[in-house]
Amino acid sequence: MNEQRNGRAVSALWESTVPKYPCLLHGADYYPEQWLGHPDILKRDVELMREAGINCVSLGIFAWSSLEPEEGVYTFDWMTEAVDRLYGAGIRVILATPSGARPAWLAEKYPEVLRVSDSLARAAFGGRHNHCYTSPVYREKVRQIDQRLAARFGGHPGVILWHISNEFGGECFCPLCRAAFREWLKRKYGSLEKLNEQWYTSFWSHRYTKWEQIDPPLRNGETRLHALNLDWKRFVTDQTLDFYRREAETVKSAAPDVPVTTNMIGPKSNLNYHKFRDSVDVVAWDSYPLWHRGAEEDIREAQKTAFAHDTMRSIKRKPFLLMESTPSTANWMEVSKLKRPGMHMLSSLQAAAHGSNSVQYFQWRQSRGACEKFHSAVVDHSGRSDTMIFRDVREVGKRLEALDKAGLSRTEVRPEAALLFDWENRWALRDAQGPRRSGIHYDETVLSFHRAFWELGVPVDVPDMESGLTGYKLIAAPMLYLCRAGIQDKLKDFVRAGGTLLGTYWSGVVNENDLCFLGDTPGGITELFGIRREGIDALYDGQYNRLLIDGKACPPLKREYRIAELCELDCCEGASVLAGYGDDFYRGRPALTVHSYGKGRAYYLAARTEYAFLRDFIALLIKRAGVRKSLDAQLPDGVTAERRTGPEKDFIFVQNFNAFPAKVALNASFRDAENGVAYEKTLPLSGYEVKILEEDHPG
Ligand code: GLA
Ligand code: ZN
Repeated sequence: MNEQRNGRAVSALWESTVPKYPCLLHGADYYPEQWLGHPDILKRDVELMREAGINCVSLGIFAWSSLEPEEGVYTFDWMTEAVDRLYGAGIRVILATPSGARPAWLAEKYPEVLRVSDSLARAAFGGRHNHCYTSPVYREKVRQIDQRLAARFGGHPGVILWHISNEFGGECFCPLCRAAFREWLKRKYGSLEKLNEQWYTSFWSHRYTKWEQIDPPLRNGETRLHALNLDWKRFVTDQTLDFYRREAETVKSAAPDVPVTTNMIGPKSNLNYHKFRDSVDVVAWDSYPLWHRGAEEDIREAQKTAFAHDTMRSIKRKPFLLMESTPSTANWMEVSKLKRPGMHMLSSLQAAAHGSNSVQYFQWRQSRGACEKFHSAVVDHSGRSDTMIFRDVREVGKRLEALDKAGLSRTEVRPEAALLFDWENRWALRDAQGPRRSGIHYDETVLSFHRAFWELGVPVDVPDMESGLTGYKLIAAPMLYLCRAGIQDKLKDFVRAGGTLLGTYWSGVVNENDLCFLGDTPGGITELFGIRREGIDALYDGQYNRLLIDGKACPPLKREYRIAELCELDCCEGASVLAGYGDDFYRGRPALTVHSYGKGRAYYLAARTEYAFLRDFIALLIKRAGVRKSLDAQLPDGVTAERRTGPEKDFIFVQNFNAFPAKVALNASFRDAENGVAYEKTLPLSGYEVKILEEDHPG
């Protein structure tokens, strides 16, 4: 039976996303092409996979030269054997297109496929993830091999998903990309006149009189037109997406029933992943946290990873896949520290807690040579299964299998709160040259807002300005500097209908093309917040102001909090003051306000405060807005909870990121979803432990 939540059906969702194999996936990147001279190893691989509880592998990711050793000569038999062997053992295949790295013959014959840097230097052959995404030759060569792969394997019952290329990213400044950029601009602006106006080229005599004069931000060229920089980044996303789409269409045309994805790298990407929303059937991403730098660092890293999972899940507001993670260490880390006992399970189930329906690894078997030979793998150079890492992986496999039987793949994370984070806003803020040229700290600010939700155990989505905002009770929207996609109206609609909004300083400053709003600011939302910005003061590092709370207005808050970096000076135009500045020439002026708007309330925080304020204030708003926590309990430091909702019952993942034991005092009794143990008043957790509780729906 389907249950409607926020207007969407829960139970059938995963079945329709990965129809051929709708269960929790436990898998790894598998490179049999590195072992073709070792049939014994290939045979052993499958036995070991079964032993490790691996039920799927990603195949062919960088296999181009093994699939097409010479131009037009295709050698797919080894892959056919691999797919058959795997499927025969009950292991499914996520089949990759090989475009992430190219054979030497291709680069030699068609140098245009090689990327050009912003200093206009063309790369020599080598590396990966460095092809030109515009080159018609590259696109055609990719199409030819993708089409053949799809024709050969798309109908195989063992192939459950397409993995397009690998970790798209980066930029190319070759003549083809530059020409494509100009075409993109022509489509966007229609005329040079419009472009000149929107780019504000009257500044420093930068006016263009021919399209051909326009170049992307080259290292020794034009980097001072912020709108140009922004459009270039947008173009890079669009062109990469276009490249991806062609690959997706090619494989889909031969195998329409196999869904497509591509492995993303999380919020740090230079690509605006939200633009992929309608072009991927399922979001997949590769997560590589840096564990064990210290106790406090582990907790920060856990929350940062939670933010990344939340961001990736929010692209489609659906379950996603953890396509890669390391079984223990990653060799590219400065220091390859082994995961401490418990951490592999904890970090794997953290992904599941945030909505992943898989735990997959890079990589299955440790490569023997080249730059990743010391990266962890499920099977290391010893080839044995009685290793620490193999055992850790097997344990995750067992737990996932049991959770799958218990129905976890038919559940979803359904937050009632959202935290707005927008890639384009980030690009604009980073480029802005004011009010703090170094240290505008957008990412850090969003992360510290997220931290409050994470510490309180409140599930949160991370939409961008183009996302739908329905179904939320509370939206936090820090630093809405660049406003686009009608965000001001969307937020007004949200509050008018009864929502609670928390906005901050340095919002409503520029439009989508980075032109400052004229007239009253925050542009388009002065009426929503009931305030008007008069200016903004920036503080040097080490300088502080104080936020003095009006004790009557917000009883649970402390009397005073520290302010640093940014202090906006606002005039109230309808809003009520909840806190004021404590120092400097603007002492006493409003620093936190609230404004009733329609049926809802819009809060405006004028200054960047210490984290303690965000935590206390967001806790208050969560309570006032009636936002549901994952677990109704006081969570100790380093412990968090995340809820997945299903048609019959919910799963609550209680995670302890401390190396030492912790106890959660419960307000109700709960049953352990895995072993049925009942917890009445306390839930004990050992160091790095994750327990999963279940809660039946009333009635
Ligand atoms: C990335 C890549 C993999 C591998 C891992 C190593 O995520 O997609 O091919 O290089 O990093 O951590
Ligand atoms: Zn190019």
